Amino acid sequence: MKFYLETYGCQMNVSDSELVSSILLSAGWEPASGIDEADLILFNTCSVRKHAEDRVLGRISNEKHRKQDNPALKIAVLGCMAQRMGKRLLEPGTGVDFVVGVDQYLELPALLNQDRGIEMDFDSQQIYPGLKPLHGDETCAFVTITRGCDNFCTYCIVPQVRGRERSVDFSQILTDVRDCGDKGLKDVTLLGQNVNSYRWGDYNFPRLLRELNKVESIYRLRFITSHPKDLSDELIDAMASCDKVCEHIHLPLQSGNNSVLKAMNRKYTVEDYLLLVKKLRAAIPDISITTDLIAGFPGESESDFEQTLQAMRDIQYDYAFCFKYSEREGTAAQGFPNQVPEEERLARLQKMIDLQREITLRKFSTQIGKTVEVYVESLSKKSDSQVSGKTRDYKIAVLSGSRSDIGTLKTTKVIKATAGTLICA
Ligand code: 5AD
Ligand code: SF4
Repeated sequence: MKFYLETYGCQMNVSDSELVSSILLSAGWEPASGIDEADLILFNTCSVRKHAEDRVLGRISNEKHRKQDNPALKIAVLGCMAQRMGKRLLEPGTGVDFVVGVDQYLELPALLNQDRGIEMDFDSQQIYPGLKPLHGDETCAFVTITRGCDNFCTYCIVPQVRGRERSVDFSQILTDVRDCGDKGLKDVTLLGQNVNSYRWGDYNFPRLLRELNKVESIYRLRFITSHPKDLSDELIDAMASCDKVCEHIHLPLQSGNNSVLKAMNRKYTVEDYLLLVKKLRAAIPDISITTDLIAGFPGESESDFEQTLQAMRDIQYDYAFCFKYSEREGTAAQGFPNQVPEEERLARLQKMIDLQREITLRKFSTQIGKTVEVYVESLSKKSDSQVSGKTRDYKIAVLSGSRSDIGTLKTTKVIKATAGTLICA
């Protein structure tokens, strides 16, 4: 029996899909080489914005016709949408046979022995202990260090669908990271909704970084996502002093206006955030900073929004993921007055994207002439004599090379830049 798994949303879902693949493999399932071959199609889904959910519902609807030719074919929905929509996904006509929430993946093989079914109870202890994820990539790995979130930003559905925050046992993380290095996955990203609040016994996040920095078999250590309210001086020190920790931080600002930040329940001000940026840049020269921004949160006026654009100009992010606010059922912001009209949200989003594009191009162009270290991850899509990878500060770089360079570090010179790629020698 063969399974085909499609993943949507954030890196946490990518990492969860690796766990699910490993669980299915141990239960005797084999991965299908394409969707046509599958006896089971799984969708690991995202609920963070309505658009993400609509896309998956569209995908399921497009694939359910396959059941006419293959009546034994089953469709399963996993992840945040499974948790949020539950039984509604099993209603007649959806084509869905199984619904499995984020804490119940170990139940999946048993459930698949039935005709239809649902498992979506929260398990506040679930950290999938001892499971070896089936890494999909040959060079880079994601290792989950915390699950869930306690922050309740008022726009965000994650705390409702992923439950309370818990940290993975330090010894399990250490084993996972060592295994990654031994398998040749030498660029490791630690994952959590808010990695800065990692806590396992005496281990906090800076200590975790210092310990993992000693793992000889890896080259690079990264982490996502950091919450500005928990970014301590101790962490900045650890980042600066650990040689494997890369010169990059993803630090979501969300808005450049203090009343919007308060309404979002972000627990910092723009001034607090600017101070963090100053400290990071003082401790780690040339650190690249990326962010998430939301346009059109309820109550955001034109001048509030202008302050977000100003923050972008002041901070000069290397890259920004820009989103328009999407109202999510069950979040605190759902009932907020003064919702911004859809066209206005879109117009503001476009302004953000345009501004960031200019800034990114300028930032990438300042790299021309510099020598950078690239960890080669794949052959370039455009040419057989080129390879592609990332710099330590999380920029995509293309350079000359061949298949045998994959998984190695190359030192090269930047000769050209676009708003997304460094072209190297
Ligand atoms: N609408 C728009 N963007 C959202 N995000 C989270 N929830 C929403 C929402 N309801 C964004 C935030 C977060 C990123 C992962 O997704 O910017 O940092
Ligand atoms: Fe959502 Fe805020 Fe938690 Fe991030 S920190 S997952 S934005 S509630």
